[in-house]
Amino acid sequence: MSEPFPNLFSPLKLGGATLKNRIVFGAHTPNLSHEGIPGKRHFGYYRERARGGAAMIVVEPMPAHRTGVLTRGNFLAETDELIPHFRKITDECHSHGTVMCHQIYHVGGHGDQENSWEPYWSPSGIPSMHDPWGSHAMTGPEIDELVAAFIECARRDRDAGFDGIDLFAGYNCVIDQFWSPLTNKRTDKWGGSLENRLRFSAEICEGIRKMAGSGFIIGMTVSGAEPYPGGLSIADKQEIISWLDQRGLVDYFSSGTGSYLNQFSKIVPSFHFGMFLGSDDAAHFKQVVKHARVTAEARVKTPANAEKVLSEGKADLVSIVRGQIADPNLANKAKGGHSADIRPCISCNQLCIGRRMRDYWLSCLVNPSAGREHEWGGDATPPAVAPRDILIVGGGPAGLEAARVAAERGHKVRLVERSGELGGQFRLAAGQPERGEIGAFLTWAEGQLEKLQVKVELRKDMTAEEIRASGADAVVLCTGSVPSRSGFQRAYPHRDGLPGADQENVCTIHDVLEGKVVPGTNVLLLDDLNGWWPASGTALHLAQQRHRVTIVTAAEKAAGQLDHSMTGDTTRERFARMGIEVVLASSLDSFEGSTARIMNLYTGDIEEREFDTLVLATTNERDDRLSRELEGSGMQVHAIGDTVQARTASMAIYEARKLGLTL
Ligand SMILES: Cc1cc2nc3c(=O)[nH]c(=O)nc-3n(C[C@H](O)[C@H](O)[C@H](O)COP(=O)(O)O)c2cc1C
Ligand code: SF4
Repeated sequence: MSEPFPNLFSPLKLGGATLKNRIVFGAHTPNLSHEGIPGKRHFGYYRERARGGAAMIVVEPMPAHRTGVLTRGNFLAETDELIPHFRKITDECHSHGTVMCHQIYHVGGHGDQENSWEPYWSPSGIPSMHDPWGSHAMTGPEIDELVAAFIECARRDRDAGFDGIDLFAGYNCVIDQFWSPLTNKRTDKWGGSLENRLRFSAEICEGIRKMAGSGFIIGMTVSGAEPYPGGLSIADKQEIISWLDQRGLVDYFSSGTGSYLNQFSKIVPSFHFGMFLGSDDAAHFKQVVKHARVTAEARVKTPANAEKVLSEGKADLVSIVRGQIADPNLANKAKGGHSADIRPCISCNQLCIGRRMRDYWLSCLVNPSAGREHEWGGDATPPAVAPRDILIVGGGPAGLEAARVAAERGHKVRLVERSGELGGQFRLAAGQPERGEIGAFLTWAEGQLEKLQVKVELRKDMTAEEIRASGADAVVLCTGSVPSRSGFQRAYPHRDGLPGADQENVCTIHDVLEGKVVPGTNVLLLDDLNGWWPASGTALHLAQQRHRVTIVTAAEKAAGQLDHSMTGDTTRERFARMGIEVVLASSLDSFEGSTARIMNLYTGDIEEREFDTLVLATTNERDDRLSRELEGSGMQVHAIGDTVQARTASMAIYEARKLGLTL
């Protein structure tokens, strides 16, 4: 038992295993396999979280059957070929005292034929939510085949050394499609009464118990109410859980949030959702179980939050997924009394589910070692062979990470920043509505620099001359990028800028967020970023400040660039509620005086409208002045992040870590 977190660090018996604490690295799809095989990338990812102190890991789901293949990175379905590969992972994680489970899934009617090349098997042939197609209502023998496939999957997991499995019975997938009257219209023994609707899940659990014995953990991920007439209420879910629990069929229930049916973005909730999102559902589950344990999922994030959930008796376990992607050592740091050293997840979703949604392997904006543990040896950095004097110029995300890594490796580091604060553009982003979690990351980074005795000098705009005279063994330029004031738009590649961009009533999003310009009441925001945060976040900021906001964008969908990080729909919802108008598929032909000539890109028609202020949200220009001035200086000069090319904080942090490991 550890002092600050007495509940979190108390052991718990689960099935035939004992968990050393209550922290689960819950089920998720990092999409890490290599040609369907869990290889080195997988091994490194899970070993890192096992080393970091997680009590239980639920490994990336396995499609139960060929009709359930969902991602390009999915494991090969229905084959024993995977067993020795998984065995390597379970052996390694067991050696760190971690209990290993494996999720088994099948999304039923919401399949993806582009990946599976199979029809989608569902109880009653509901339309797929992945594409415009339907699904195939299973015949009785097909249902038997699917039940047997789930049990076979669990048999492979047992043979691969897993301590148990986690059945995906949430988010309206095949198991809960059988449960719900919305998706199960069958009139045979698989539909109708509660007992009939539960038969599919019960037969799977009974078959696994019979095959693997009572010590083999059977977990189940279940989401809360289906908020539609005729859908399962939370009381219905309690009845289902109680029914399965009374028969001893399940060892733990985990409270997933969101669903294919209602809010998809709630499955991996960004900062647009509150903390403790699944904890009340967990509490409802806990009210009705007599045997099984309950795990609270979603937006628990920190050890302090976890302790609160446990101490309030809402759950027996907590799943912290993104918190441990961002810092694989979360558990050990909390146990050792070093919670302040935990690198905070900022709930941005940009490189975790953001990459998964584009079918790449997962990484993390604040922790680029995620998914690369096998290449970089994990999150920790090795000591430098020969400590040197390193000068970092610029204190945005790239500079902060480069300084941290270099200092952690034993170099003597000096960081100079021309403004009065560290954080660069990331600090501006933190000021946009609901994006305050970025601030916690900056506080963490500053704390780490202090601890590592990095010499930080603010309001220091170093010239090339001063850099040459600094005596540093190596200089890292992280001078970032600056907003373009030209009004260049991709729709006019032949024009250098926007007619009227040099007027006094035209400013950039930086001017707005830094408070340098107070726009008039009626604002036009030119979004040439396809809705990416600088554009959408500033529109929300302006609307919150009671400006009337119109966005003009060449994109065909508002905030479309945010979709992959599951923040597109929640942003559009905010646009709608705040009255932000979005003029799609349009460009700004000119802004002269207060007249905007807006051109429809399909028809070429021009509409003239009046605005007090035009705010430019266009692609930044890199600040490479020092790079050019130091060329041929004979110094070891590195340039990273926006200094090289204007882009995202994730790339800046990645390049900083990568460079830091070689300095
Ligand atoms: C990249 C990613 C993929 C996910 N895939 C799954 C999945 O396959 N099965 C599942 O049950 N949950 C999945 N989830 C949801 C997580 O289990 C968890 O509920 C969610 O991340 C919220 O918890 P957190 O706030 O601790 O991250 C996924 C989450 C992420 C970030
Ligand atoms: S990418 Fe963002 S949301 Fe995902 S784990 Fe990293 S910090 Fe958290």
